[in-house]
Amino acid sequence: MNDTTTVDTTKSGSDQDWFKDAVIYELHLRAFADSNGDGLGDLVGLRHRLDYLADLGITAIWLLPFYPSPQRDNGYDIADYRTVNPEYGSTQDFQELLDAAHERGIRVITELVINHTSDQHPWFERARRAPKGSPERDFYVWTDDPEDYSDARIIFQDFETSNWTWDPVAGQYFWHRFYSHQPDLNFDNPAVEAAVLDVLDFWLGMGVDGLRLDAVPYLYEREGTTCENLPETHAALKRMRAHMDSKYENRMLLAEANQWPEESAAYFGDGDECHMNFHFPVMPRLFMSVQMENRTPIIDIMEQTPEPPEGCQWATFLRNHDELTLEMVTEEERDLMLRAYARDDEMRINLGIRRRLAPLLGNDRRKIELLNALLFSLPGTPVVYYGDEIGMGDNVYLGDRDGVRTPMQWSADRNAGFSTSNPHRLYLPLITEQEYHYESINVETQSENPASLLSWMRQLIALRNRHTVLGRGAIEFHEPENPHVLAFTRTMPDETGAGQAPMLCVANLSRLAQHVELDLTDHMGATPVEVFGQNRFAPVGELPYQLTLAPYGFFWFSLENRREQTGRTFRARSRRSHGARPR
Ligand code: NOJ
Ligand code: CA
Repeated sequence: MNDTTTVDTTKSGSDQDWFKDAVIYELHLRAFADSNGDGLGDLVGLRHRLDYLADLGITAIWLLPFYPSPQRDNGYDIADYRTVNPEYGSTQDFQELLDAAHERGIRVITELVINHTSDQHPWFERARRAPKGSPERDFYVWTDDPEDYSDARIIFQDFETSNWTWDPVAGQYFWHRFYSHQPDLNFDNPAVEAAVLDVLDFWLGMGVDGLRLDAVPYLYEREGTTCENLPETHAALKRMRAHMDSKYENRMLLAEANQWPEESAAYFGDGDECHMNFHFPVMPRLFMSVQMENRTPIIDIMEQTPEPPEGCQWATFLRNHDELTLEMVTEEERDLMLRAYARDDEMRINLGIRRRLAPLLGNDRRKIELLNALLFSLPGTPVVYYGDEIGMGDNVYLGDRDGVRTPMQWSADRNAGFSTSNPHRLYLPLITEQEYHYESINVETQSENPASLLSWMRQLIALRNRHTVLGRGAIEFHEPENPHVLAFTRTMPDETGAGQAPMLCVANLSRLAQHVELDLTDHMGATPVEVFGQNRFAPVGELPYQLTLAPYGFFWFSLENRREQTGRTFRARSRRSHGARPR
């Protein structure tokens, strides 16, 4: 193991912006690797696969909830916050995983699901039996009138008809923004906030590097509002951040707020709330732009995206463990997305599409590469969903969102090398549909093939890791005449100071070859070096820069040696300038 990559969690304040340069890999323990043959992935299994992840080049893993749970919402229904579900191992196993990840320079992000618990949590058992109005009852949100807070939307609209459910034990209705077995905690009760901070201390004390704050817009409820993004919620998050900053260094809070850019950006506060924040609206627009063969959806949403404050960064993704959500699009856009990407009813759930990346894109390798290239070059830290690096398929006939949560495909061996158990014992069946069968789509087969998607993803991630400008640079969109082409430049504020040349990214969103002319006069004299092949292209001169792109083709050019060749200093254009703030 290489010592130089070890994460030094004791270093004082030296690495607090680590998440800006990160490549995050999202995985669920149960789905990744089973070490004891019970059909369920576990902590030891993941520890044994860390070298695969280090080799892939990712720098952080995000673990879905691994706490005791009735598993009626994939573990997001937590029955005990302060221990590990014994099916996955012990707290000791978790500590060993954390240490082994840190030794490899990989950080670990876990889940802090504080909007709700499982109805099996002892707090809820206690609450429903405690007298009305007591602090114990008030750990949750109760009413005698289920018309309260009627302006709040129903999120799981395929499964729930109300945000209130009658509890015969308590003799009252309890509030839940998600499933009716997931009562919402009551943040108006100071004891709840104190209990949540205890949980945060428990995991950060062990050395966890970051916490994803699940369903964070819904912490407070107020009559006459949508009960989302309330000032009280932001105030509570600021208190949480202050608590964290007073005790730990180099840790990170990541907000899951499925909102429009303005509302989302509010979770950064003034740099005093969450460090990171998922950019939900850009995700469907990447798919829309490819479908429409037009750059407008991407540019429009980026123009509406506020620049994160100092010390903050967006997290971006193509797919995750949930449906491809279509909450942050117009109705017209939703229709377009459903028609294009979810032909069959089975592919749809709530307001989204429950499919993996490869099947969504018709298993078109060019489109898969193009979308990943956009994910890795637009502002924000990319999050890769496990299995998408090998182009895993899905199973839309499984319930809820399970179709995108099937076992990781390691090899063509029994159970895809995921488990030695009886195949019938696997927590979910493997993908055996012909096109995506685990016998051909698996890590082992693709590792041996330099032309495989996996090999290509390794290269993409390595390039991203090498070119810090992609994580930290400001963005400027070009406006070529050809609408099928998206082109932008990422630039460090002072290229010599940061030692990073600007990166010009050009993408053909259409299924046909395209020609484009770019105005690169700000980079006159620079030599574009195509970073995948290290080939030097014609230097930028006074005439428009001409490029020809293959169908769904793209280029990443490092614009090199401009200073030496022109003697000009870099001057950032403010027009259409977005993204990371120069620092
Ligand atoms: C968001 C999680 O990503 C999702 O999987 C879960 O169902 C909801 N929160 C409710 O817990
Ligand atoms: Ca196991």
